[in-house]
Amino acid sequence: MAICWEVGMRSSIHNHKDQNCWMAAPIGRLEVHNYRVHEEDLVTQHCLIEETEVLEISSLNPVAVDPLNPVHDVRNPHEFGQRAVSLHLYSRPFDSCIVYSVEQHTCGEIGLRYTSKYGSLV
Ligand SMILES: [Fe+2]
Repeated sequence: MAICWEVGMRSSIHNHKDQNCWMAAPIGRLEVHNYRVHEEDLVTQHCLIEETEVLEISSLNPVAVDPLNPVHDVRNPHEFGQRAVSLHLYSRPFDSCIVYSVEQHTCGEIGLRYTSKYGSLV
């Protein structure tokens, strides 16, 4: 999957439904912020997560999502000053994931969909 990032764009904090993931940025560069989950309760939608590290993705530095701590977000910070494209390879596709808020201590499952497939909007 390819994702285009305008300057300043940022993903939600999310997991990958137990699927492995590798990411590279053939154009531009991006930051990945990783988080450790201390508490997660989807029934009450309460979570407690903590940021643990920041990695940079570029054409020379692809990154793998840690299967033991798979919660992260991806950012194209204003400081980088250029658009970016990332490529994501998943071990299996998934159509929903858990998203988290550090500030609100909330989490919940959301559905996922593609913007386009094979060059056509869907
Ligand atoms: Fe991700």
